[in-house]
Parts: sequence; C-alpha cells; structure tokens
Amino acid sequence: MIGVFDSGIGGLTVVRALKQHLPEYDILYFGDTARTPYGTKSPETVIQYAIEDAEILLDRGARILVVGCNTASSVATDTLRERFDVPIFEVISPSVRMAVSAPKGRRIGIIGTRATVNSRVYEEKIRAVRPDMKVYAAACPLLVPLVEEGWLKKGETRRIVKKYLHPLKLKQIDTLILGCTHYPLLKEIIQEKIGKRVKVIDSSEALASSVKDFLREHPNIAGSLKKNGACQFYVSDLTAQSQKVAGSFLKTAAKLQHIKL
Ligand code: DGL
Repeated sequence: MIGVFDSGIGGLTVVRALKQHLPEYDILYFGDTARTPYGTKSPETVIQYAIEDAEILLDRGARILVVGCNTASSVATDTLRERFDVPIFEVISPSVRMAVSAPKGRRIGIIGTRATVNSRVYEEKIRAVRPDMKVYAAACPLLVPLVEEGWLKKGETRRIVKKYLHPLKLKQIDTLILGCTHYPLLKEIIQEKIGKRVKVIDSSEALASSVKDFLREHPNIAGSLKKNGACQFYVSDLTAQSQKVAGSFLKTAAKLQHIKL
C-alpha cells in the first residue's frame, strides 16, 4: 500500500491527486487530527509526531510513504529517511522541480505555514539548482482554519488572501507554489488575487506525478504494492466536523476511522 500521512485531513488533497494519477493503487491514510496543527509547532515536535505517524502506516502495511503535510515534509524528511528503510516522498521537491523548470520561472513565491516558511527549505532547494532565481516566501497562518471552517468563497477569506499575497505581488513573482495541504481549495481565489500571469503550482499535483514516475521507473516496487483501488482513512481524533470537512478535501465521501495514538 501507499501510505500517506498528514497533520490532519488536509492531506486528503494529496490522496485526491494520487487517486487521479494512480487510481489502481491501494492507499492507507493517517491524519493526526488529535495533534493538528503542525504548522504552528516547533521542528522538534513535528519531527517526533512525523516518526509516530510513519510508524502507524508502516505497522499497517504501507510499503512506500508519502509525507502529505508540507510542514512535516519541510522539517522531518531527513529524519524519516534515516530511520525508515522504505521509499519516502515529500511534497517540497516535486513542486520545486516544477517551479524551476517552468519557462518563465525567475521570481518564485511560496506560501505555507509558519513552520514551513521558517524552515527555508523551499529557498534552499531552489537555490541549490538555480542560484539565479529570486525566492520570496510568505506565511499565511489564517488560511488553514478558514479552509477547515469551509469559508472557501467568503469575502473575509478573499480579503485575507489578498492581504497575504500583497507582498509577493509587489515582488512581481511569476510563479507561486502552494506550500500547504489546504491551499489547493483556495486555488481560484489565490490565482485571482496574485494575477492571471502568475503560474500557480499545486504541490499535491506535483507530488502525485513524481510518485507515478517513480513507480514506472521501479517496476519491482510497483509490483509489490496492492492494486485494488481501495482507500482506508484513519485519524487520531474523530469528530463530525472532521468527517464533514474530509469530504470537501477529497471531493468525494471518505469514511474516517478512529485509531488511538
Ligand atoms: N498540513 C499542514 C501543511 O501542509 C497544514 C495544517 C497544519 O498546520 O497542520 O503544512
């Protein structure tokens, strides 16, 4: 199975993209809803949680791991790769590759949680391959709760998005990476506020196509994964609200099951 974890239910945007690109593969999802959000926490805490999340998936039969959470991808990937001997995908590198190869990508903006922005991991990865590029990052901490409240089209959300994007607009970015699980749900407003000419990169899409490429290039691993098109969704805390919001992330009904940490 392909194991995907996230700090909560936002990582279902990653599952959705994986299901589009790899519909036949079984997916096991774990959302740490009991301890969400990760984006406001210290790297040490996020690393510890990420190790536990990975263990939950591996214990239940995951053979490859996808760190669906941008915050955990930013701070915990190295530790996870040292600790676990399975292929591990994170959501940062695929969107960076997409951004640097975009024809007009010279001035790249990134939006994410505070922890993701503070890690500076996007800047490091972009500068490692394209030191000539200008990179600007902005933390947008209010967007996660707005999405979880379902305020996807409200005037307040539009105004907040506009305010967060204003500094990036002043920098005249030509590419914008959505560096958080929740932002694909606001993609239309983000595109509208940053301007039509800016290429907006959804990290869940970038990740899904890179997992697909990997499986094509590694038929032995692809062959060892279950392919019944089945998905199981586990969370560490189950509420009616998380069950409801899960459907809006996945764009189809998802039956969440509770597992105790
Ligand atoms: N999943 C987190 C991320 O992509 C957003 C929610 C959180 O802060 O935990 O960074």
